[in-house]
Order: sequence, then C-alpha cells, then structure tokens
Amino acid sequence: MLHTTITITKLRDVDTPLLALLIPEDAKQLSGQIAELNELLDGGVLQVLSSEAFKGKLYSSFLLYTANKIKANYILLTGLGPREELSAESFRIASGEAALRASNLGAKRYALYLDPSSMEFGEQKVVEAAIEGAELALYTYTRYKSQSDKKGVEELILVADRGDYILQLKSVVEDTQKVCEGVKLARDLTNTPSSDLTPTLFAEEAKRVAESVGLECIILGLEEIKQLGMNGVLSVSRGSKEEPKVVILKYMGGKADEKPIVLVGKGVTFDSGGISIKPSEKMEDMKYDKAGAAAVVATIYAAASLRIPLNIVAIAPLVENLPSGSAYKPGDVIRHYGGKTSEIISTDAEGRLILADVLAYAVDKEKPQAIIDLATLTGACVVALGSQASGLFGNDQALIERVKRAAEASGERVWQLPLWKEYSEQIRSDVADMKNSGGRAAGAITAAAFLKNFVGTTPWVHLDIAGTAYTAEDGTKVKTYTPKGATGVGVRLLIKLLKDWAATSS
Ligand code: BES
Ligand code: MN
Ligand code: ZN
Repeated sequence: MLHTTITITKLRDVDTPLLALLIPEDAKQLSGQIAELNELLDGGVLQVLSSEAFKGKLYSSFLLYTANKIKANYILLTGLGPREELSAESFRIASGEAALRASNLGAKRYALYLDPSSMEFGEQKVVEAAIEGAELALYTYTRYKSQSDKKGVEELILVADRGDYILQLKSVVEDTQKVCEGVKLARDLTNTPSSDLTPTLFAEEAKRVAESVGLECIILGLEEIKQLGMNGVLSVSRGSKEEPKVVILKYMGGKADEKPIVLVGKGVTFDSGGISIKPSEKMEDMKYDKAGAAAVVATIYAAASLRIPLNIVAIAPLVENLPSGSAYKPGDVIRHYGGKTSEIISTDAEGRLILADVLAYAVDKEKPQAIIDLATLTGACVVALGSQASGLFGNDQALIERVKRAAEASGERVWQLPLWKEYSEQIRSDVADMKNSGGRAAGAITAAAFLKNFVGTTPWVHLDIAGTAYTAEDGTKVKTYTPKGATGVGVRLLIKLLKDWAATSS
C-alpha cells in the first residue's frame, strides 16, 4: 500500500522528485497555482500544451524538467481527456498513468495535484478515483519472481488547495485504501496458479483472511457436502484428487434481526472442461475461473474492515474440474441441494452446477434479503460484451437498478441481458428438470436461466464476469489501473452497492 498523505502546500514547495498535474484535453488557459508554476518555468507548461507533444488526451503524459526552478525535479503533465467527457473513470485512468510513469522513472515518491477545477467534479469522488488509479495501477503479482528486490513507488502526496475538507478527505483516503486492499486480495487469489490454490488451499486462505478481520468462517468439507446433498459440487470435483470445499464467511455488521445480503462466487480453481475437455489453446487462463469466489471473499473482507453496518454472507463453492476415471460424465443426472435435477450435456458447463447447490442452500439457510452471484460463467458472455462490461441478469428490477448504479459509479460496467421465460425452453431436458447446456445460441442467457431455478423468489442478480475478470492478451486497450492478469472485478462494485444499501436502509 502506498503511504498516502493529503496536504495543502504551494506547488513550488512540494518536496518530491515528480509532481503530476491533471490536464484536460486542449486546455488553452492556465489558472491558479498551475499558472504560477508556468510563470516560474518561464512559460514552459503552456509551451508544451500548445505544441503537438501533449494534447491532454487520456492515457498520455509528458515529462518536463524543472531545472531547479521549483522544488520538484520534474513535472508530469497527465491527460484527463475532453472536459465534456470527464468522469470518475477519467481520474482513475489519469492517476494510474501518473503512478506508472512515477514507477518507470524509479521514483520512490511522487505528488499529485488535485487542482480546484478537477475538485469541482466532487472532492470525494476525485480523491477516491485518484487513490484507486494509483493503488491498482501499481499492483503487480510477484509471488514467483526471484528478483523482486525492486521496491517501487512507496509514497503519494496528494496536494490540494483548500483546507476545509482535509479531515473528511483523510477518511476518504483511508476507506479507499481498504477497498483497494480488497481488490488486490481478489487479484492475488485469482492470479495464483491452480496447483498452489487448490480448493483446500483456497479455503485455508479464506479462513486466514476471515480471522484477520474477525469474521465467522465455516468450511464445509467432503463429508458435509455429501450429507447436505450438494451433488453439483460433488460431481464436478469427482474427476480431481482435490476434495471440494464450500467456504461460508459471515459478517454481522447490521442489526441482529436483519436478513443478510448473500454474495455467492464461482470458485473453480482450474477448469479443464472435464470429460468435455477444452481445446489446449489459452487453457492456462482457466486458473482465473475462481475469480468470482475471490471477489466475494475479498468483498466481505473489505466490508468488514470498513465496518459497513449490514449483515453480509459470502459463500464460495470450490472445486477443480478435471477429466479422469472417476470424473462425472455427459449423460449423468445430478440431484442438487433441495432436490432439483439436472442432466449433464457438457461437463464444461460446470460453474452453474456448483452454483445451483449453493444458491439453493443460501436461500434455504440464510433467508437473504438479496443474493448476488459473480461467476466467470460463459464464453458466450465474452463474445457478447468483450471486456467492457459484465453481463447482468436478475429476477428483481429494483435490485438490478441498485447494481447498475453501483456499477456506473465504480466504473465496473455491467450490461443487462434479458431473462425471458422463452429462453428456458433451450434447457428443457427429457430426463431431468433441466439440462446444463442450452447450446450455442444465447449461451450467457441460458446459463443465467439455469441459475434462476435455484433462487426461488429471493431478489437475485447474477453477474457473468467471464470477460471482465482478467485482461486477456488479445483484449482491447488495457486500462492503466488494470495490469495484465486478474482485475479483481466486482469488489469495487459490490462495496459501492453495500455502502449505498447501508446508507438507504438505516
Ligand atoms: N469457465 C468457463 C467460461 C469461461 C470462458 C470463462 C472463457 C472465461 C473465459 C465455463 O465453465 C465454460 O466452460 N462454459 C462453457 C459453457 C458451455 C459448455 C455451455 C462455455 O462458455 O463454453
Ligand atoms: Mn467450464
Ligand atoms: Zn468454468
């Protein structure tokens, strides 16, 4: 975590090797402290802005040597993009750009100026976005790197003009750091190779995380899973030597009699496809198939450290999907928790099978006021939305709207797809209550339609994060704050949702 302070200092006096300024596209005039800096630098800033070298475009930056005319050695002009298009996302991306430049320059410390015209966008939102951009851009997964003695950027100084908000903004800094720790935890869990994060190891890790913030942690093992009749979880795991686990974490921050919000996350530690084996190309990406589980564990961890006044339960079924002599097979019929049956068409449609048990279990045992599940569920969702949005489905439009608002504010976009009853015909089975694959057409929707059968009338939203959980090699432009690999998607969205929920239900 960056050591972050927020201060009111004259820009020329900030003691830093690098001072980053946020510049909107085609800025013609300078004002306030930036104008003063420009004077001190003999018009150097304006000169760059009126040249072709830097136009203030998002994802661009320009380094200016200060020749000891101010305390900072370099100024970094960082593009914010068009003024009319300014959003929290612009600040996240620009702050990420500045952090990455600071890192590449070998700076241990850098400053970011939050100028009055940026702050006009909303002090709290700008500070949040600045911290998120920096913290998340500087994330690296170094567990297996022998030479990781390089320490990187350690300190961020946020410079503001006005003092009246400072105390409040300090708590915004701290809270945002807690959320970012959650996102990084989700990334670490998701990035870890399957051999080092089997269902058993994942459950142990979740327990350790839970204990660090005083959460209740229940881990269901093979015997309990059998006894409860979670045969989806059991069947999918049968091809692997690794035993399945179901992790249940509880955070009781709300009133004792208040029903919980349940977060469910798909935890397939590796998805080979099983007997319906996947092509080998890009199969290594299937270590990311536990991103949903990682997100819900990380979210409840962050919610607890933020002390959000709600009751929250996170549940993650954990399995490894492999082919072997003991593997489940196409044609098999599974009886899920609660009694509904499914016919296996493809052993590669495993996510819905383990979620089915756990959704039914959550409804039965927790009587939740809402359930939200996150799952890297279908390749079809990647085809439909790419990496720009998670697919959103649900049975309750009010809950759906809440999730959409949180998505918009967090920059973790979602896009709603329909769940008309006609789609269910595609998963009608001759031998069981339903089948686990509805074919190629509308694949993301038929997967959601399958899940819908297990939540009854409980308000429920399903987020298909197959396209957003990790940045693929062939993806469109990688954002500054989502480096290659796991993105930790869902954590920021869910925390925003829970905070808003707490604010409106108290
Ligand atoms: N884990 C995959 C979905 C996936 C694909 C995630 C690409 C991330 C990137 C899931 O278990 C799966 O294999 N789904 C099948 C379902 C089909 C057999 C009905 C798919 O999408 O092909
Ligand atoms: Mn699969
Ligand atoms: Zn899968």
